[in-house]
Amino acid sequence: MDAQMTETLSLDALLGLDAVRVSDEAAIAAAKLAGRGDNVAADQVAVDAMRTALNTIAMDGTVVIGEGERDEAPMLYIGEKVGTGSGPAIDIALDPLEGTTLTAKAMANALAVVAFAPKGGLLNAPDTYMDKIAIGPGYEDGIIDLDASPADNVKALAKAKGVSPDEITVCVLERARHDDIVKSIRSVGARVLFITDGDVAGVINTTDPTTGVDMYIGQGGAPEGVLAAAALNCVGGQMQTRLVFRNDDERARAEKWGITDLNRKYTLKDMASAETVFAATGVTDGNLLDGVKVADGFVHTHALVMSSATGTVRTVRTKRRLGA
Ligand code: FBP
Repeated sequence: MDAQMTETLSLDALLGLDAVRVSDEAAIAAAKLAGRGDNVAADQVAVDAMRTALNTIAMDGTVVIGEGERDEAPMLYIGEKVGTGSGPAIDIALDPLEGTTLTAKAMANALAVVAFAPKGGLLNAPDTYMDKIAIGPGYEDGIIDLDASPADNVKALAKAKGVSPDEITVCVLERARHDDIVKSIRSVGARVLFITDGDVAGVINTTDPTTGVDMYIGQGGAPEGVLAAAALNCVGGQMQTRLVFRNDDERARAEKWGITDLNRKYTLKDMASAETVFAATGVTDGNLLDGVKVADGFVHTHALVMSSATGTVRTVRTKRRLGA
């Protein structure tokens, strides 16, 4: 494909199906290890499968959110070049297995996740924690504020939704560090829906009314925050985040990626500033996606692919002949 043609085609047309293939391959590999008690092995097979799939795509790809920095991650490290090397310059955020413990214990909601953007379109976040708040689409801007209390955020959302705060459900990662957040949410009568892992799905839940989740609040991984932003950028919604540093090493990592204001509050557009394509495939069954199944001589996958250019969320069910 010549350069002029690639400029006129949206990322969705160029990479939409490739994105699903990439997340599917990682999910299929990881699902083989579901319930076998080995987080590390499940992650490793997902990484291998995702990397192999990425390298078949005609693009000049760079991993910007990956498995870690070069010295700690042998594959899909931040800065690694992927793809055939010819084609559009694409930045990639990925998590081949979002929910390693969920997979090792065969618990719900493990996903394989990837997002594509034109070069420079995604925040190059360091592998630190991040405070996050998110809501789905359909509300006027400025409803949520990371610096307001969870109770105030619930009240603001309830008002915008035209319901009472006790009709609001907030998804929160079940961690001791979130005790005060939980207290604040419940102080206004709202419900807390706990997840044990997997806050990319937690944020995406806010965009799907069938999940019953209105808001996501809490501290999780910064890479997962950027992935969730890439998804919200496609469907709409609001998100604010701030990096959380536990030590000087983490601060130095941020500075290495060009982050000078360590206390900056990021909006959705700060994290996903260009067109994005986002794909997630269920590894284990979950409320968004079914997990990988083997039946009747086929491997069945269930994926979401979202595109900001077309504003679409497609659900893709694929069956591959076993061994193909
Ligand atoms: P895995 O690394 O096991 O895939 O866990 C993912 C996750 O639950 C993320 O979804 C979340 O952002 C982060 O871990 C939370 O970190 P912690 O477990 O340290 O609280």
